[in-house]
Amino acid sequence: MTVQLNHTIVAAHDKRTSARFLADILGLEVSPQYGPFIPVEIPNGVTLDYMDSPDTITPQHYAFLVSEDDFDTIFARIQAAGLTYWADPHHRRTGEINHNDGGRGTYFEDPNGHNLEILTRPYGSGG
Ligand SMILES: [Fe+2]
Repeated sequence: MTVQLNHTIVAAHDKRTSARFLADILGLEVSPQYGPFIPVEIPNGVTLDYMDSPDTITPQHYAFLVSEDDFDTIFARIQAAGLTYWADPHHRRTGEINHNDGGRGTYFEDPNGHNLEILTRPYGSGG
């Protein structure tokens, strides 16, 4: 059985700005517009298709598993951009990272209020 998550739509106030934000933070490329979407392809094959939404955007959660080296690079970009970051999904531990499952993780928001996360160990992998 071969089932893979291929793409999902991410609601944005400004799809170009939002796609660029994610790509710049994670070190990825923004793909050419496809229909109403501005795609950002994640290296594991999932594409996030940013689409303008005229409505109030309900924040969603997108978590990116990264290597320890990539965490250093991405976290440096988060700090250099002056973004607020939190150790927890409820944004109580401001300016901290977590060490869940023996790795590192942190949360930050995109321009639409989507709750983004980078983590170096999958949930529950710490034994
Ligand atoms: Fe998460």
